[in-house]
Parts: sequence; structure tokens; C-alpha cells
Amino acid sequence: MTCYWHRGEFVAHAYRGHAPVALHPSTAEILSAFDTWTTPAQAAEALDHLHPETVVKAAGTLLECGLLAEEGSPEAEEDERLADTWGPWSPEASFFHYATRDVPFETATPELRQHLTRGGRPALFTEYPEADRILLPSTPDPRLSAPLEQSLYLRRTHRSFSAQPVSLHDLAVLLGTVFGPAEFIDGVEYGALIRRTSPSGGARQELDAYLATPNATGIPASLFHYNAREHSLELLREGFNHTEAGALCAHQEGTDQAAFIIFVTAARERMRAKYRHPRAYRVSHLNAGHLGQTFALAATTLGLGPFQTAAFDDTAVESSLGLDSATHSTLYALAAGHPASDTPTDTTDLNAFRHTTLRHGQPGRSDD
Ligand SMILES: Cc1cc2nc3c(=O)[nH]c(=O)nc-3n(C[C@H](O)[C@H](O)[C@H](O)COP(=O)(O)O)c2cc1C
Repeated sequence: MTCYWHRGEFVAHAYRGHAPVALHPSTAEILSAFDTWTTPAQAAEALDHLHPETVVKAAGTLLECGLLAEEGSPEAEEDERLADTWGPWSPEASFFHYATRDVPFETATPELRQHLTRGGRPALFTEYPEADRILLPSTPDPRLSAPLEQSLYLRRTHRSFSAQPVSLHDLAVLLGTVFGPAEFIDGVEYGALIRRTSPSGGARQELDAYLATPNATGIPASLFHYNAREHSLELLREGFNHTEAGALCAHQEGTDQAAFIIFVTAARERMRAKYRHPRAYRVSHLNAGHLGQTFALAATTLGLGPFQTAAFDDTAVESSLGLDSATHSTLYALAAGHPASDTPTDTTDLNAFRHTTLRHGQPGRSDD
């Protein structure tokens, strides 16, 4: 279970198959008396400052809410199994997973529609009107007509880059192709919506691109926001080097050599304005994955080596970008550069397959 305070109430949520329940905070003490297999009578004895009947009655209610389980019951066995299978991911990942499962698909309520039409619509684009900017060229690039199959099979994660800077043209093509609007559609009560080359749940397009350019021609080493409406780079801060890039990205190999890094961040309100259930947070991560794949394929097609990571220091990234973490989440870091000529191919051999578990339950082979 997970317990939390919500809107002034103490809530306990046996999150696998049970709804959250508001309890009196003192119930936590009763729950704690059941931290090993204990009968209600034993618990009543241990909590001798409470009336025994109160403890026994509370135990019955807690059992009904799934907050207690009976020894040997299928629920207790399932609890053990889940603790085992989720292991160190529990409770954070398991809570989010189960608490956002099997939810009915929600359509906009009349109240929500009213709210949206009365000025509650979040802005379609993120923009920094006061920032200095570089307007990017919109030159079409014939390389993007390369066969899809070629890009799909050439794509690989690069972790070693040459010192050759990325050109302004390549950056502009990539940003426009991955993050720019492909067209606008009528979202009725939501107004016009953007379509990109990647799908986005509800066409909310809550994801923005922030660009760090340690090694690009015609662009100072700086931090920018990509203004998708204008196809421009809005300057947030001058000065950005490879050391900072590595530090922001948990020193993942190659992040301190890549020509540029794009931090994909979610302006959560743009998603939340339509989808009220926390399950929608899953959708933002899926959206980021789509953008990441389009980025990797487009970068490959342009002859660049892409890299992506979820290993970054959220607080440091958001503070560098001047983003309020109460309203924004950094979801993905996408980087690229010209691949180093000595980038090794890590193809496998017979020995590697010998040490592979190809089938569940297959006896392991020692590594020597
Ligand atoms: C969501 C995601 C996060 C990743 N994070 C890292 C990372 O932190 N460090 C790293 O070296 N590679 C990272 N990678 C790259 C993967 O390790 C790589 O995709 C995998 O080894 C398969 O190789 P390929 O991309 O060349 O096919 C990440 C990939 C994805 C999709």
C-alpha cells in the first residue's frame, strides 16, 4: 500500500485492485501493529491504550479495503509475489503502474469544455518573446528522401563523436522535421492543434525542445529554446560546453562529445488541460519516445550519429533552462554529432551467444 496526505485527508491506497480510502491518521498506528502475521486479538493487546473492540473492528474494515491481508490467502500470496517481481522498483514504479491501470477513457465533461472556451486553453506554443533569437533557414533537404529502410537499419546509438561541428543547416532541418508543425488540425473546443511528424496523444504537443549547442557552426555555444511556431532559436543563456553537457547527462559516454543535445521537456498543463487522469503522464513519456525515434531516424538520414538517454540530472537541467519543475518535466535527452571515424561496431560472436540465456529456465553457462 501507499499512504499519503491529499486535500487534508490521510489516504491509504492498496493500489493493486483497490480504490484509495481516506482514513483517520491514527489508523496508521493500527496498521503498524500488523507488520508481521498478527491476529486482531494480538494487535489489540499490543495497542493497549486503545479499546480492544476498536482495534478488532478497524482490522475488519482494513481487511475489506485491501489494506490488510489474511495469512495464506490468495491476496497475501499475490502480495509476496509482487514484492518479489517489482523488487527495487517498488513502491514508486509499482504504485504508479497499478494506480493508473484499467481507467475508463475519459471524454471532456461539459464543465471542462466550458473552462476551455473561457480562456482555460493553454497556449499552443511555448515562446520566449523577449529573448534574442536566431531565425532558422527553412531550406528543404533532399537527403530526407533517402529510403526509409536505409535509415532504419543504419540507425544506431553513437557514443563517440568527431570534433566536426554540426552545421546550422542540419540543425535547422532536424529541429523543423522532428519538432516543427507538419500541419494544423481542428481540435474543436481545443482550437487549432499541431500535428508533428510523430504522433502525440490527443495532439496535445506538450513536449518542447530545448537545445544546447556546444559545437555548432553559426550558433554560439549556448542554451536555446526551439520556437516551433517561428522556426527559430530563442537564446536562454550564453555559454555551454562539453563539460557541462556531460555533467547534466550523468556523464553518459559521448554526451561530453556530442555536437548538440536536445532536452525534451513536458509543459504538463498542455496535457492536463484535456486529460485529467494521472494515466496521461504515461502518454507524455510515450510521446517523448516517438519524438526520440523520429529524431534518431532523421539524424541518421542526415549522416549524423544520434544518442539518447534518460540519465540526466532533472534538477540541474531544469535549473539551467530556467524551467519551473512544478509545471515542467524533463523527459528525454537527445544528442547527436558527426560520428567518430573509429566508432566500433559491437556485433556479437559465438562466445557471446554461449553466455546468453536464450530460453527461460535454461541453465546458465559460466563466463570463463
Ligand atoms: C530510453 C533510452 C535511454 C537510453 N539511455 C542510455 C544511456 O543512458 N546511456 C547509454 O550509453 N545509452 C543509452 N541508451 C542507448 C541504448 O543503450 C541503445 O539504444 C542500445 O544499446 C541499443 O543500441 P542501438 O541504439 O545502437 O540499437 C538509451 C536508449 C534508450 C531508448
